[in-house]
Amino acid sequence: MKAHKPLVIGNWKLNPATLGKARKLFTEIRDRYGRRKSAINAVVAPPFPFISEIERLSPSRRIELAAQDVFFESTGAYTGEVSLPMLKSVGVSYVMVGHSERRARGETDEDVYRDVQVVLKNKTQVVICVGEKARDDHGNYFGVVEAQLRAALRDVKKTWLPNVIIAYEPIWAIGTGNTATPEDAREMKLFIAKILTDRFGRKEAKKVRIIYGGSVKKGNAAALLETGEVDGFLVGGASLRPADFVSILNTAVEYVKNSQAT
Ligand code: 13P
Repeated sequence: MKAHKPLVIGNWKLNPATLGKARKLFTEIRDRYGRRKSAINAVVAPPFPFISEIERLSPSRRIELAAQDVFFESTGAYTGEVSLPMLKSVGVSYVMVGHSERRARGETDEDVYRDVQVVLKNKTQVVICVGEKARDDHGNYFGVVEAQLRAALRDVKKTWLPNVIIAYEPIWAIGTGNTATPEDAREMKLFIAKILTDRFGRKEAKKVRIIYGGSVKKGNAAALLETGEVDGFLVGGASLRPADFVSILNTAVEYVKNSQAT
């Protein structure tokens, strides 16, 4: 049986265009997903202005909330920023940090480090996004992921690890339809687990969930869980289509059921 509850996060990115559309998207996901499923953590990450309204639409928290980013200071003269206490106060339980689309806009390893620190010091779950731009024949992409991970995990204490999630999102797979194969996802998952073990020891490292993102669809989710052995998904495009997203959630629910039966 799997050690972890699968975690599936729908990252809405800069979508949808209006609050009305966000309400509709969430309501459809919530109603299709239905009740009585606590076998997995089902999460959506809406844009900041929509979070409190979505929270109001899910009072039972069967679907939890993530933020797509955070600023490392909690208060002060920082025009345009959003802090962790603000996010917690509107019901956010997970905060994504270092998404490649933010790194592409200038976020550095040092920024990611500071964000990770503020989230974990405030006892909130952090989703640290890592991933290489491209693959090469020499395996240099392992070094890229390792450097991102080591920078993000600097000063992270062992006792914080139950709140740490690593999302492996190879940039070449994001929004391209080129999903990593289950074998590639598994290989990188094992590599990340090894780095965590080196840093924190085997027992502690096992507390960290390692999820995959990059063109996850209803058609490839089962194989990524079964063969890829990932602990869940970060879903972009498909999370904006309620039927597709709920089908991915249900695949994870089924996966848990089947692994409990064996
Ligand atoms: P896609 O699922 O659209 O490839 O996006 C993945 C992603 O970036 C999720 O954070």
